[in-house]
Order: sequence, then structure tokens, then C-alpha cells
Amino acid sequence: MNAVLKIAALVVLSASVGKPVMAGGSREKIKPLAATQGYRDEIGRPPEPYKGPPRSGAEVYAYRCAACHAKTTQGAPMPGDDLEWALRARQGMDTLMDHTINGYRQLLMPPRGGCRNCSDAELKAAVLYMLKKSGVEPPA
Ligand code: HEC
Repeated sequence: MNAVLKIAALVVLSASVGKPVMAGGSREKIKPLAATQGYRDEIGRPPEPYKGPPRSGAEVYAYRCAACHAKTTQGAPMPGDDLEWALRARQGMDTLMDHTINGYRQLLMPPRGGCRNCSDAELKAAVLYMLKKSGVEPPA
């Protein structure tokens, strides 16, 4: 390769390497999942009142619970984990709901699952949703 070609190759190479940074100036920030972000936003400020129709268990789950329960964060039982949920269901529905509403285990499981504008009925629907996904009959 002669000197002129070498320089030409370098120019082309450096131009293409530089491009992504030069064009945007900065990389686009990685956006966290909406549910995760919402849960963090809600800590430390009053919950935004929710005035819509009652949300289904699946909706509440996606809105808040999934932030931890979809990937066993801090040991949160995943929907579909039949053994985990069967063992937890043995405590009875009252205890499951007490842990959901008031929080549990040094609040690793936060009060109301982090959904402070969820009604008790909506929270119960979310618990039933996770039990159903795990093929576990809701306890008495
Ligand atoms: C910040 C993470 C987090 C979020 C958000 C969260 N959970 Fe949990 N949840 C946990 C963890 C961790 C546990 C397991 C605690 C343990 O047993 O050590 C748990 C356990 C539970 C249990 C079982 C309690 C028991 O007695 O065994 C129920 C029911 C539950 N969560 C319901 C919900 C519902 C409903 C939501 C959404 C409205 C929700 N969680 C959102 C972390 C979370």
C-alpha cells in the first residue's frame, strides 16, 4: 500500500468510527421499564389519585408488582412458580393480604406492593392473578 492510499484509508476509518458519537453528541439514555420507574417515582411523595374504573389483577400486576415479581427481585415469588406460591398460599388469604397491604420482610415486599393508589380489592385481584398464573387455588 502506498502512502496516499494509507492516508485515504485512515481518513475513511476515522470518519466512520467517529460518526455515531459526532452525529448524536451523546448516547440515548437507557430508559427503565415504565413499571419500575413508576414505583421509584412514587416513593416519598403522595400517590397520584386514581379515578378510573377498577383495574384488573393483570393490570395492577403489570403496573407495579411486575417490577419485582417478574424477575424474583429480592426473592419476590414469580407468577408461574407453583411451588413458591403453593407454600405461601398455605398461610391463608388473610395473611397473604396482610403482607400485601402492610408490607413484609423488612418491607422488601413494600406496603401495597408499591401501588399506593390501588384499592384493597385491586391488590387482591393482583394476588389472585399471580396465584392463578401459578396454577394455585386461592386459599380460604
Ligand atoms: C419492591 C419489590 C416488590 C414489589 C414492587 C412488589 N412485591 Fe410482592 N414481594 C416482594 C418480595 C421481595 C417478596 C418476598 C418476601 C419474602 O418472602 O422474603 C414479596 C412477596 C409477596 C407476596 C407473598 C407474601 C407472603 O406472605 O408470602 C405477595 C402476596 C405479594 N408479594 C404481592 C404483591 C403485589 C400484589 C404487588 C403489586 C401490587 C407486589 N407484591 C409488588 C417484593 C415486591
